[in-house]
Amino acid sequence: MDVKIYDKLAKKYDLATKIVSFGIEELWRWMFVKEIEKHIKNGVLIDVASATGEMAIALDFDEMYLIEPSREMNLIAKGKFNGKWKMENGKWILEGSKKIIIIEDTAENFRLEKKADLVTAFMALRNFDDLAKGVENIKNHIKPGGYFAIVEMVKSDSFLAKLILLYMNKIVPLIAGVMLGMKKEYKLLGKSIDSLDEEDILKSLKGFSIVKKQKLIFPIATLIIAKRDD
Ligand SMILES: C[S@@+](CC[C@H](N)C(=O)[O-])C[C@H]1O[C@@H](n2cnc3c(N)ncnc32)[C@H](O)[C@@H]1O
Repeated sequence: MDVKIYDKLAKKYDLATKIVSFGIEELWRWMFVKEIEKHIKNGVLIDVASATGEMAIALDFDEMYLIEPSREMNLIAKGKFNGKWKMENGKWILEGSKKIIIIEDTAENFRLEKKADLVTAFMALRNFDDLAKGVENIKNHIKPGGYFAIVEMVKSDSFLAKLILLYMNKIVPLIAGVMLGMKKEYKLLGKSIDSLDEEDILKSLKGFSIVKKQKLIFPIATLIIAKRDD
């Protein structure tokens, strides 16, 4: 995905997402967090495609690594955490009560010494340029027995899903055009929504066992919790 679109969107991302999704994305996030908490409540978290940092805020683990290639998104995320930030070896490090590190990189390319108890990818996978490479890199950053938790929009044949896609492809760009002057960009984002099959995601999860898979309300979003095999 062209990160320049997200750079341009960053300052209005949170508000625009709430408006165009009628708050549904927040509901999905809430359901995601509730499901994750059944399996794991704290430890080392890596959130990929972290955008404005909302997943880190929602999960609130003691040690969190945010991986996000858009500089503008990272600047918004930084502003949401209390404490002083310092830049070290290309990473933003928070000097506060929690350990939070922001790394400007992609899912495919980031490198960390740390292994995670949990990696989250909320509305993230369809943005990867190379899904298999991204998931392989993520796997290499998860402890054996650790979790990879995903929410993603996927193709669906249901009537409701088709209606939602129509709304995303035709109406949302119009709203975004008026609200943000970003009609073209939202058209592109809309196109990416039905670019992934659930099967593609499941196939990419080599070396994981699926512990939970469910459609969220509104059937174009799917939630997957996978556990890294030993
Ligand atoms: C829909 S937003 C993610 C939302 C976010 N996870 C949340 O919890 O609100 C998609 C993000 O993916 C990022 N992105 C684009 N290409 C990426 C890649 N190859 N690896 C990781 N993130 C990428 C974009 O910059 C953008 O911030």
